[in-house]
Amino acid sequence: GRVAVFMGGDSAEREVSLKSGQAVTRALQEAGVDAFARDVSGCLLDTVKTPDYDRVFIALHGRGGEDGTLQAILSQAGIPYTGSEMLASALAMDKLRTKFVFAGCGLPTPAFRAMNREDEAGAIVADLRFPLSVKPSREGSSIGVRKVHTRDELIAAYRDAASHDPLVLVEEWIEGPEYTVSILQDKALPVIGLSTDHDFYDYDAKYLADDTRYQVPCGLDEWQEALIQNLAVEAFRVIGGRTWGRVDIMEDREGRFWLLEVNTVPGMTDHSLVPMAAQAAGIGMSELVVRILQDTLP
Ligand code: DAL
Ligand code: MG
Repeated sequence: GRVAVFMGGDSAEREVSLKSGQAVTRALQEAGVDAFARDVSGCLLDTVKTPDYDRVFIALHGRGGEDGTLQAILSQAGIPYTGSEMLASALAMDKLRTKFVFAGCGLPTPAFRAMNREDEAGAIVADLRFPLSVKPSREGSSIGVRKVHTRDELIAAYRDAASHDPLVLVEEWIEGPEYTVSILQDKALPVIGLSTDHDFYDYDAKYLADDTRYQVPCGLDEWQEALIQNLAVEAFRVIGGRTWGRVDIMEDREGRFWLLEVNTVPGMTDHSLVPMAAQAAGIGMSELVVRILQDTLP
């Protein structure tokens, strides 16, 4: 049947999604799949009312497309789609509540607090150790994320983060290096190590800078790589993820690993991490997208 690749949308990650969607569409077509790209913005209900496709490859990032909203609508309409279903999508989009689940399952995640008002800064500073990372809870691509060293910086960063999402997550900063584990058909692909001259792997480092370094093999000992692959698969499992995703992990100076978040529709641009990890496992882009699509087949 025909496959519609949903991309674009109205989230802050629209531009990234357009690139992901184009790369996915090209790769599906190269594999002989009857696929076309659709820029979905505005009302998602209209998009599924009179479908001219049989299944959907979701290449939308951020709220609206990655957060369970679309997944619920497609489920209701009886249209098969790639990736996680409603609950896991909604949970993974919300970094704060993802951490409640990690913590509840005994999985390692940096110490954290929710921040709902500026006047909570004092209590947070008393509770957590600087430096801190301040993030809008339901945003992607590091949009609105800041590293802070003082209470004043915390308040300024809170204001910025809250302009993206009133729900703000404050967590203890882990110096890194950062690793990312891609999941395909519920198994871990080779781990990628990330390093950047930026303060962290921020939006610019992700999409604009050319001084971001990706290491695959990641440079860890084999047993350590296996350890974080298991950690990632477990994180993906406890949030209820389906088929594919990407789990971001930090290593601290003592060599301990900490879960940051799960992405249920990770970037699929030409420079993105999941295609890079798949390649390292001998899986080209076309095989990758076909395998993701296969899991939607009855
Ligand atoms: N949110 C971006 C697209 C990612 O996780 O790759
Ligand atoms: Mg993310």
